[in-house]
Amino acid sequence: MRVVLGVSGGIAAYKAASLLRHFTEAGHDVSVVPTAAALEFVGAPTWAALSGKPVATDVWTDVHQVPHVRIGQGADLVVVAPATADLLAKAAHGLADDLLTNTLLTARCPVVFAPAMHTEMWEHAATRANVATLRSRGAIVIEPAEGRLTGADTGKGRFPEPAEIFELALEIAALGVRGPDLTGRHVVVSAGGTREYLDPVRFLGNRSSGRQGYALARAAAARGAQVTLVAANVTLADPAGVKVVHVETTAQLRDEVVTAAGSADAVVMAAAPADFRPTSVSAAKIKKADDGTAAPITLTQNPDILHEISHQRARAGQVIVGFAAETGDDTGSVLDHARAKFDRKGCDLLVVNDVSAGAVFGSPDNEAVILSRTDDPVEVPRGSKSALAQVIWDQVAGLLA
Ligand code: CTP
Repeated sequence: MRVVLGVSGGIAAYKAASLLRHFTEAGHDVSVVPTAAALEFVGAPTWAALSGKPVATDVWTDVHQVPHVRIGQGADLVVVAPATADLLAKAAHGLADDLLTNTLLTARCPVVFAPAMHTEMWEHAATRANVATLRSRGAIVIEPAEGRLTGADTGKGRFPEPAEIFELALEIAALGVRGPDLTGRHVVVSAGGTREYLDPVRFLGNRSSGRQGYALARAAAARGAQVTLVAANVTLADPAGVKVVHVETTAQLRDEVVTAAGSADAVVMAAAPADFRPTSVSAAKIKKADDGTAAPITLTQNPDILHEISHQRARAGQVIVGFAAETGDDTGSVLDHARAKFDRKGCDLLVVNDVSAGAVFGSPDNEAVILSRTDDPVEVPRGSKSALAQVIWDQVAGLLA
């Protein structure tokens, strides 16, 4: 793939060198187009050496090759990282006073901006308006992360991890220019497995890795959605452009999902919440008894989050998706159990995994059948969790339309 990496003049330019490495190591052909200000942070030799190509900021270098038109026209993907407030303003207004801004006007491929700036600049009405304009034209503007900024200050405006921007950019490129069909939508995804504590060090848990939920969150961000990911005990890196809320127990997961669902167009419950919790949590570590006897653990049922949000819809037209990990037995097949669960839970779509072989947990792959209220079941053959995520969002987008 031919990638243009635009770099504008912010301190995160040094992290863009790492982003460049991700693209080149994956075999992509990258042309780096820095602004003059970007070269104040990271010099042209770094970009030239890492990309294997000459680097210019202006439209006058090698003018016989008409670079201000050729670079944009030939691109399969343009990623501007970091995108400063100034660069976003220029792009939103169609200014073209250097090679990067000219390239943005001539590119007809997916365009991704990864803004990084101080919180005040990101939140300024001018930047908000520029971001909205760019999104309305089909560009993906990645929500900056929250955390440490240049100085001692923290807040929203941080450049997401380069590896995560790379993963997101690949999904955006694969979707093509018609990709951002969830722009303007807020979606909530839950992921991971909850922990129900017995004492300060012990818990009841399950094998969910969170991978399918994280793939869903990334896929939604690639389609332009504002994404809230409620993650229970997941150790994966935060996906770029996604607001991640970390929780441990089913009760915490329920509270965060219900709160986020209040403003959501869609909620996908990919988490594995424990159905039961110990009735009491010991404040001190539970000790072995001298006589070798073990006290029984009594359990109390947890709230069923999917059932609750499906039966008490926060918003009209909200689409709710559940997952069902099932095994067949003498009382019915995987699909028999799934259909009964679909009716009980009251959601709009149910993604059914056959876990008889135990292959789903922690694996990068998944296969599923998606049940809906109106259409025939959709069979998704074995493939990546990202591919399944895209099919799920296709179904959700269809119901939202
Ligand atoms: N779920 C939930 N709250 C719970 C348990 C499950 O919201 N306390 C959601 C899961 O996120 C998933 C769906 O319900 O989307 C189905 O989960 P599953 O564990 O298969 O269903 P259970 O209701 O626990 O049914 P079972 O009796 O088969 O365990």
